[in-house]
Amino acid sequence: MSTQFPEGFLWGTATAAHQVEGRNYLNDWWAWEQVPGHIKNGDTSELACDHYQRFEQDFDLLRSLNQNAHRLSLEWSRIEPRPGEFSSEAIDHYRKVLQALRARSMEPVVTIHHFTNPTWIADAGGWEAPETAERFADFAFRVVDALHDLARYWITINEPTVIAYQGYVKGDWPPGKRYGLTRVMRVLSTLMHGHWLAYERVKSRHSDLQLGLAHHLRVFDPARPWMPMDRIVASAFERVFNQTILKTLARGRLVFPLTRVARASGPSHSQDFFGLNYYTRELVKFNRHYRAELFGERVLPATAPRSDLNWEIYPEGLYRVLRSMSRHGLPMIVTENGIADRRDALRPEYLLTHLTAIQRAIEAGSPVRGYFHWTTFDNFEWAEGYSAKFGLIACDPRTQERRVRPSAGLYAEICRSNRLPVSVELPPAPLDDEQPAGPAELR
Ligand code: FCB
Repeated sequence: MSTQFPEGFLWGTATAAHQVEGRNYLNDWWAWEQVPGHIKNGDTSELACDHYQRFEQDFDLLRSLNQNAHRLSLEWSRIEPRPGEFSSEAIDHYRKVLQALRARSMEPVVTIHHFTNPTWIADAGGWEAPETAERFADFAFRVVDALHDLARYWITINEPTVIAYQGYVKGDWPPGKRYGLTRVMRVLSTLMHGHWLAYERVKSRHSDLQLGLAHHLRVFDPARPWMPMDRIVASAFERVFNQTILKTLARGRLVFPLTRVARASGPSHSQDFFGLNYYTRELVKFNRHYRAELFGERVLPATAPRSDLNWEIYPEGLYRVLRSMSRHGLPMIVTENGIADRRDALRPEYLLTHLTAIQRAIEAGSPVRGYFHWTTFDNFEWAEGYSAKFGLIACDPRTQERRVRPSAGLYAEICRSNRLPVSVELPPAPLDDEQPAGPAELR
């Protein structure tokens, strides 16, 4: 098997504004962080990685690590702190950020919405309010119009299903709701509507730009494949969590179960590339007490290698997802993939096996154009605070000291040579009879 990646492959890391910038006081996450018990160890995003100030040096470091691309997000609450009031200072800041990437020959991939809402949006009902779709599209149009000359790749919304699940099913993220399926579908429909409107508006003025969405896709397998009920709940998870929005976008209209709340349609083509965030797989076991979660309890195979967050390490899943998403016929970019590993003990192998999975998918015909490792630095990992260390570069939130981890060196070599240093075997798929152990965290 060749270890070479296609010419022009994008190699970088991905971040999100609220997780790295610091001093983002005007959004719903900041408000959420102020409530004791919401964030592990009482952490807040106060300084985060102070990247808002340090972006130039940070990009120097990434360039010295041979990265030729970078994914980042814009903070809506800085740019539009009050309805219809756009801050030229904030827009200028992001112009400088994108110029700094260009000056270093790093291709920007810009996310317009990565989880955070301005407080005025949250106060007006957030993604439960149908008008949020319009407001988001207005914002998207304004920022892309102001920055279009500096970035070719744009992502409208990061992980709509994760927004809906964490904020409105599990209630661990703002706005902290625990709703049943129907109300959650309302949230998801508004997110889809927001994406469609943003896509149409931006493309009508800037048809040359490449717009996509970052999908969080998980593999859902039955915990006990010989049990019909486990197979049924695993396929229900697959349908609701993965397929609902994939089909909606492919058909250009809401599909079941979204049609329980609305019957909207959008353009039949609303993605120029397919953004994929892949981390792990979930084994699903039927449990009649898990009504709110479609009767599915998520479990881990006893012997599975896991990250610090107890997420199964399952590179084969990346291959499976890339192969199955190829049917959309769109170029694909792995917009996130990474591991919480404070000791940097598992990350080198994680990198090699996941990149091998990508390479195998490319060889089998999947048009993968780039890879963005999650993430650049240890950062503010939402409800996990600073406890989850996903960075190729360690970052101490108190001293702001950056320390390049060994796996960043390995990644630098891959970025430089555009190939894998060794051909690695993917670990064999777990055996059917592995026993599930303990509850898994969805995130
Ligand atoms: C993804 C999010 C990203 C980060 C990683 C670990 O779902 O997009 O912000 O939280 O998970």
